[in-house]
This record gives sequence, C-alpha cells and structure tokens, in this order.
Amino acid sequence: MYKHLQERYAPRPPVNVSSLMKMKADGEKIAAITAYDSSFATLVDDAGIDLVLVGDSLGMVIQGHDTTVPVTLQDIIYHCRAVAKGLYRPFLMADMPFMTYASREQALENAVRLMQEGGAKMVKLEGGGSQVEIVEFLAGHDIAVCAHLGLKPQSVHKVGGFRVQGREEAAAEQMTRDAVALQDAGADIVLLECIPAPLGAAITRELRVPVIGIGAGPDTDGQILVLYDVLDITAGRKPKFSKNFLAGHDSALEAVKAYTQAVKSREYPAPEHCF
Ligand code: KIV
Repeated sequence: MYKHLQERYAPRPPVNVSSLMKMKADGEKIAAITAYDSSFATLVDDAGIDLVLVGDSLGMVIQGHDTTVPVTLQDIIYHCRAVAKGLYRPFLMADMPFMTYASREQALENAVRLMQEGGAKMVKLEGGGSQVEIVEFLAGHDIAVCAHLGLKPQSVHKVGGFRVQGREEAAAEQMTRDAVALQDAGADIVLLECIPAPLGAAITRELRVPVIGIGAGPDTDGQILVLYDVLDITAGRKPKFSKNFLAGHDSALEAVKAYTQAVKSREYPAPEHCF
C-alpha cells in the first residue's frame, strides 16, 4: 500500500504534478514526448523524459489518417495501456479524442476510462474558453487536466488547416485570457501549439502552472515533440518546429537522450524552430 511514498525516496522518483510545478519554480525545463507502445515507453523513460503523452497524433503517425479527428477513445485506451506498462518515472498523460468531452458528464465518464482502463494519470483536452466549465468539472472530481491551446488539431476542419495561431493582437489577448481562465478552473498544465514565440513567453510568465510548448518558442516551461518527428520517421513535409535528433546518433535511445538534453540545456528549440 502507498507504494508511491516509498518511490518518493527512490533514486528516480516518479514525476507527478507537484514535481512538474517544482521544475517550473526551479527553472528546470520539462522534457516531454509522445509514445504509443510499451517498447518506446521504456526507451523514452531510459532517456530521461519527464512527461509522456499518448497523443491523438497516433491517428496520423500510427493509423495513417490525415487528421486526428477519426481517433476514438478506445484507440487511446489501447495505446495508453501499452505505454503505461513500459513507464516508471515519467508522468503519463492521455489525449481525450475529438468529441469525447462535449458535455461535463461525457468528459468525466471518458476521463475515468482513460485513467482506469488506460492507466493515464492526467487527461489532455483541446479547448479555449468554452472548455472552462469542463475543466472545472474534471478538476472538481480530482482529475489532473492539461488544457491544449493555440493550434488545436481537432478543430482543423473548422479553422481551415494547420496554421500558426495568435498572430493578431486580439487573438493573442484572447488566448492569454483563455489560458488564465483554464488554469483558474483547475488545469494543472497548459500546452501551447504553434504560436509566436513572444506569445508563448508571455503566457508562460502569466501562469503559475507549467506551460509545455510545441512550436511555441524557447521560453515555455517545457517542450513536447511527436516521437516519430524526433526519430525522423514521419513521412512528408516536416513542421517548422520539429527536429531530427537521430542525425548524428546511432540509436533511437541516443536520439531521445539528445532531445532530452537539448530541451534541458535550452539548445532546443533554436530560432529556426520558432514562429
Ligand atoms: O496528439 C499529440 O501528439 C499532441 C501533441 C502534438 C502535443 O497533442
């Protein structure tokens, strides 16, 4: 019983929401990455990654869809269960797929399934101000939540493509207000995707919870990338913020270690990865 009390004093105690808050307070960058199976989960854990996301990006990199929209809750549960088996130290977060959190009750039921059946410790949902009520409801039931702002891939058909968000002043101000509202509603992490670097820096300064960026500049509290981009497996056009860390390394483990180190030492992202 209370195995985590023993683990707290282990040489590599598992990461949790408190240690992520402490990393923000101490100015230690958080290294995050996606994973979809048990073998890669063990590898990214060995590479020193702090936070692992079972992202609905699996719809694109595993299932071959053009968007994340077709991914189901059962898909995420299947991959999350596999990832959970391979992880010891990193904190495990799972995406809530498209339309699995359209009401408070639906969100709660599905978040519980991700935790009980998938082994997730935190759920991530895409949303602006309209999700404040959902986040508050989940947080009110003691569920750890990450709110994803900026480019929201589940909205791709509504916004007309994968585009940088928050370039205009009004949009940047709205995103900052949304981030604060989501934090105040109980979000434990805010994730910012594809926004100008100065906006990433401003929102990070504004929030007391950790901010993880992907294409959000060098000043967020941490960085996340899709594992298959780090290993240069993804076919086709690469996003500006991605970097091939396999180049110059002779194994996947060394490549993910290089990514972790580059995040911790602030070498990644460099100016060429930013908007
Ligand atoms: O699904 C995913 O992999 C994500 C990352 C791009 C942050 O949401």
